[in-house]
Amino acid sequence: MTGTTDGPAPTVTPGAGTTPPPGGRPPSFHTMWADLAPIGRHAASGGYRRHAWTGADADCRTWFQEQAEARGLTYETDHNGNQWAWLGDPLGEDAVVTGSHLDSVPDGGAFDGPLGVVSSFAALDELRRRGAQFRRPVAITNFGDEEGARFGLACVGSRLTAGRLTKEAAYALRDADGITLPQAMEAAGYDPEAIGPDPGRLARIGAFVELHVEQGRALDLTGDAVGIASAIWPHGRWRYDFHGEANHAGTTRLADRRDPMLTYAETVLAARREAELAGAVATFGKIAVEPNGVNAIPSLVRGWLDSRAADQATLDTVVSGIEAAAHEAAARQGVDLTVVRESFTPVVEFEHALRDELAKILGGRVPVLGTGAGHDAGILSESVPTAMLFVRNPTGISHSPAEHAAEDDCVAGVLALADVLEGLACR
Ligand code: GLV
Ligand code: MN
Ligand code: MN
Repeated sequence: MTGTTDGPAPTVTPGAGTTPPPGGRPPSFHTMWADLAPIGRHAASGGYRRHAWTGADADCRTWFQEQAEARGLTYETDHNGNQWAWLGDPLGEDAVVTGSHLDSVPDGGAFDGPLGVVSSFAALDELRRRGAQFRRPVAITNFGDEEGARFGLACVGSRLTAGRLTKEAAYALRDADGITLPQAMEAAGYDPEAIGPDPGRLARIGAFVELHVEQGRALDLTGDAVGIASAIWPHGRWRYDFHGEANHAGTTRLADRRDPMLTYAETVLAARREAELAGAVATFGKIAVEPNGVNAIPSLVRGWLDSRAADQATLDTVVSGIEAAAHEAAARQGVDLTVVRESFTPVVEFEHALRDELAKILGGRVPVLGTGAGHDAGILSESVPTAMLFVRNPTGISHSPAEHAAEDDCVAGVLALADVLEGLACR
């Protein structure tokens, strides 16, 4: 396998539950984790740069296919570039599907996404070790471009499949270099003409369960290794374009400036204030400046707002409060402002029946928690009964190289997922 980076990578050592049976069987969780760990890892930051349709993404995809084939699973990519590994008939009804994503945010952690995919293969190994008899088809997935790091829109693979992103809108997506999504897909060997809704595939899925590292500290506080998701906060991304006037940093009087950086700065402070007032979150984490010269007042500052709240009304209040403050500052400073909502995902309440079934399978003493993070499971939840398992993250840090889960907790996650798959697909 061709890794694109070097340097030591986060390790997870095997536990009893994931030790593969003797006799040349599929590799263990530990082996899979070690195999995947160098791919897309940036040597200097220690973070992952596995962005959609790049070389690192291709290496992750090769890894997925190898894992599927090593287990004798039926491997396929769907017409939206999502990967599937099937045990049983891919065209069978009432399938139980698990999996997550392998792409990352810029300098992301090792666990967000890959923990779910690696745990899915390890759970399948565990079920085979137990001699489980499968009554329903089971599939493991890697959904493409979950983070939206390159094209700005999260969950592109699952959105296309669920019909929540049109082909036209997908074709309009561009990366920072102006490469369109279809161009990137084509360069990676996929046919962008084929993208679009896949209702037949979704109709054959009886349950989708995504395991994910927790992206907060709820499980650390309850003292549990594994939890079940209740809901995902509504969330969205908004692009703010502040147009000012480029001018000389040394000779332009302060009073004569139309400085969009100033307006941007006020807007960032307003975002913090509005979020604090409402008990929500609001983040400007990405910015582009033109002409980006140290001795020039910018002509354009483009900032992306990510905001999330427990309910729609609160999110609306926060987002409109930030926008009003930005317009007020822009008017005062002679700056032109446009705001475009680039994506939005409404609140997701995971299906109670499946959630309760998971809790029953896992012994009923599993914490149930909500999250502010988005997931493919949330996108699919409108079309398919969907549930999520979370694995404890002792610091809660995520979207950072410092993201972590202890090896024992990863093993507990694998065993919990194996129990869930057994309960759903084998009984
Ligand atoms: C995805 O991880 C998101 O919540 O942005
Ligand atoms: Mn993420
Ligand atoms: Mn994720």
